[in-house]
Amino acid sequence: MRKPIIAGNWKMNKTPDEARELVSALVPMVKDADCDVVVCVPAVDFAAVKEAVAGTNVKLGAQNVHFAKSGAYTGELSADMLKACGVEYVVIGHSERRQYFGETDKTVNQRVLAAVEAGLIPLLCVGELKDERENSYTNAIVEYQTLIGLNGLSGDQVKDVVVAYEPVWAIGTGLVATDEQANETIGVIRGAIERKYGKNVSDAVRIQYGGSMNPGNVKGLMSQPEIDGGLIGGASLKAPDFTAVVMYNK
Ligand code: PGA
Repeated sequence: MRKPIIAGNWKMNKTPDEARELVSALVPMVKDADCDVVVCVPAVDFAAVKEAVAGTNVKLGAQNVHFAKSGAYTGELSADMLKACGVEYVVIGHSERRQYFGETDKTVNQRVLAAVEAGLIPLLCVGELKDERENSYTNAIVEYQTLIGLNGLSGDQVKDVVVAYEPVWAIGTGLVATDEQANETIGVIRGAIERKYGKNVSDAVRIQYGGSMNPGNVKGLMSQPEIDGGLIGGASLKAPDFTAVVMYNK
């Protein structure tokens, strides 16, 4: 059985003081969660959040990582730097990084390899654009993005990676994939992993849904057999809303 994982992606929101306030409110409300709980926060908030989650079931995540160990990469952060700040999870290949910052499947893969090597758990984001879905490319896109993103990892390493299926048209738009659409596409991703790495790997890897997931739609999505959690943007910025998502089964 796969343990569900629900992660907040704060994006470019929250100063350290605001982060401390949000996480301090969140921690007592989610202490009995049955899923893994992660908050992926801006790097300036690492210290405040690390302190606020210490000794709790809430884990610290980052929103990106560079693939080099160190060097002349102005503005970037290495996997070892994230580890040293208490980070355990890292979002990689988010559609906003692909769309606005020119990230490619190649660099996404390099980031995944660097994260795994450093002992971080990647949340590898894949998903189709609106016109790709309308033209029936969804399955090809998510299979390709998943397999190229994981390329170079062993089956055992893939088991520990989290994949986030995020249809780009559903991110921050209020549009949400139907429970069936999300379940079906996540099944396609799992099938691609099975063909390459075998069933014991595809049965183990956790695949989240992301895109306008909120307290109102979480139950339906989480009742689908293929969906192992969520990557939550807007609804992770308020403690009561994120709590309602995390405690979906209570
Ligand atoms: P959203 O963002 O929940 O605000 O749609 C999801 C994401 O980008 O991970």
